[in-house]
Amino acid sequence: MLTKTQGPTALITPRDWSSHPPYLYPGYKSTARRAPTRPLIPLKAALGELNQPVYGHDSVGELDHDLTRNARKNGEPIGERMVLAGRVLDERGRPVRNTLIELWQANACGRYVHKVDQHDAPLDPNFLGAGRCLTDDEGRYRFLTIKPGAYPWGNHRNAWRPQHIHLSLFGQHFASRLVTQMYFPGDPLLRYDPIFQGTPEKARGRLVADFTLDLTEEGFALGYQFDMVLRGADETHFENRK
Ligand SMILES: [Fe+2]
Repeated sequence: MLTKTQGPTALITPRDWSSHPPYLYPGYKSTARRAPTRPLIPLKAALGELNQPVYGHDSVGELDHDLTRNARKNGEPIGERMVLAGRVLDERGRPVRNTLIELWQANACGRYVHKVDQHDAPLDPNFLGAGRCLTDDEGRYRFLTIKPGAYPWGNHRNAWRPQHIHLSLFGQHFASRLVTQMYFPGDPLLRYDPIFQGTPEKARGRLVADFTLDLTEEGFALGYQFDMVLRGADETHFENRK
């Protein structure tokens, strides 16, 4: 809670930038075009912006968290089913509850449902690759989905993105959207990926999910755990650094 003696910034711990990638990482070519060339201008958040909700509690549908079912047209999506679950925690290990998590990803063949994606791989009519859910009182979330495929992206010769899932988190106020990517353990493409490698080595492990039998659904789906930490020394690397 804010008090009269605390401004909004009093709630925010300085981010550990040494565990985040630089704006400009030459191996990741598009950063050369979008990295700021001038110092950033801090935006002062008004008290109202820090407290207003950004969505209604009734806006998340029953199947929104289940990508194996939320876009079916004439059958089941193709690919390896998986559970992605974990917790959203703050820097002190406390659960961040009621946080909207949005997920987007390629299908099992490495193709997004997007007009810009013209990769020569099949679309799946029963898979959209988008979902969302809210964290519970313990900060837990859970998605059912299909393991995404790797895809070429033209950054350099024979460049392929490792299998990954994009995640966005809305915090407790409008100005706290955070975006990151989750990777899979043991992926041989990780060593060649400038987006993953752009994150300082000490923090890369936080971007890789843990395979765990505890989350596996017997006879149905494999399980991966991916906890996300907001702020502090164990913070998950986010792409939209501000
Ligand atoms: Fe992607």
